[in-house]
Amino acid sequence: MCYNVYMNKENKCDKEMVETKIFDISYEGAGVGRVNGQIIFVPKTLKDENVKAVVTKRNSHFLQGRLYEVLQASPLRQIPFCPYFDKCGGCDFQHCSYLVEQDIKKEILSEELAKIGFYGKIDFQPSDERKHYRNKIKMEVKNNRIGFFKAKSHDFFEIETCPIASEKINAVLPLVKVFLKENNFNHIKSIYVKQVKDRLAICFLFEDFCERDQKRMIKSSKLLDVFQDISIYFGFGDVLESDKTKLICVSKGQGLVFNFKGKTFDLNVSAFNQVNDVVAEKLYQYVVDHVNGKRVINAYSGQGLLTLMLAEKAKFVYGIEWQRSAHESAERLKDFLEEYRLENICGRVEDEIGSVLLRDNIDSIVLDPAREGCKNEVLKAICDGKIGQVIYISCNFSTLVRDAKNLQGDFEIESVKIFDMFPCTANMETVMILRRKG
Ligand SMILES: C[S@@+](CC[C@H](N)C(=O)[O-])C[C@H]1O[C@@H](n2cnc3c(N)ncnc32)[C@H](O)[C@@H]1O
Repeated sequence: MCYNVYMNKENKCDKEMVETKIFDISYEGAGVGRVNGQIIFVPKTLKDENVKAVVTKRNSHFLQGRLYEVLQASPLRQIPFCPYFDKCGGCDFQHCSYLVEQDIKKEILSEELAKIGFYGKIDFQPSDERKHYRNKIKMEVKNNRIGFFKAKSHDFFEIETCPIASEKINAVLPLVKVFLKENNFNHIKSIYVKQVKDRLAICFLFEDFCERDQKRMIKSSKLLDVFQDISIYFGFGDVLESDKTKLICVSKGQGLVFNFKGKTFDLNVSAFNQVNDVVAEKLYQYVVDHVNGKRVINAYSGQGLLTLMLAEKAKFVYGIEWQRSAHESAERLKDFLEEYRLENICGRVEDEIGSVLLRDNIDSIVLDPAREGCKNEVLKAICDGKIGQVIYISCNFSTLVRDAKNLQGDFEIESVKIFDMFPCTANMETVMILRRKG
């Protein structure tokens, strides 16, 4: 198998090429080999494979490689189902079966947790689907074409499909392409497509514009009607999920609506939601089943669905979330409760946790921070207070391990479970439950 993406016009590779045997898998999911005693990381390889790799980066500590040719394949190697797997920066594991991917993930996490002295069992909740599970994708735009970046770079490549995105999302990509070509906007940076149940929203994210330009662009945009009942937004800012980004709804469509126990409520397109619905549901239920005590904080609470589920079990729950649009969704969701058993606080967890701990005796805290993990002030407030249980939901096990280490003076790890929210990628959602010592 040869990945001849580095050939020049004379069909020669003009980059440094090395051969290595893969002996381990790094925490980022890349194969680890050695070249003249130096470590080389080669993504999309498996243990015991002999491979040829192109050196893309070299420093005094390690080499970074890109797979060029598999000289001797592992018996576990499979043909990826995505036509772009070799170059795309999105997926890490399509070159092996899902069972092998699960074993690799468990091994990666157990090695990381061993660094903080945890050698216990790691449970694993697989995803029902390995393909078409994502309810959200972000695509890059170049010359009116849609695509992704190649791994570890900002090199654009065009796509027709993304096999880990839902079929409904894939079905609208041709419409997006037609819309881009027809309008020839030169300033679109990226496009988000989000699905909630059977509804879609698309956001075209532009480079910053003054108000007059925005209005002109909205007025002049052609072919919005191809999207029919899909909600279309023009966004002005860096990323969709931020209060700083200005969002304008240019075609109302059906809106993103969520059903909960027979009632429906509107979600905000610019607020975070978990990307794998089936796994997210299992994760939320697991947290609700394991939460201990009557008074609970749900920190980094997003649009508040978990806060609501927790409030159905506990006596009182505080949701803390800094993004205004997510907080507004959570406030709408609060109306599902007949009694006053939930308070949504809009602010930074590090600023708000102290006052909640002062005015109430909290039994348990659920933490679900972004990839950066928790600020030290948050961990210190938890350790200094009387909270008996921490349920830490993490999408980045490196920061989970760092934060767990900071809690370990006062808490011990009771259980760890991976919820495989992101099959085919080296990312994993982990729930760690910690109990106060003594
Ligand atoms: C991984 S999401 C989890 C959201 C929610 N628990 C869910 O399941 O949908 C992290 C959330 O934390 C919010 N956030 C990030 N940093 C924060 C901070 N310092 N204080 C409060 N909220 C924060 C983000 O806006 C985002 O909604």
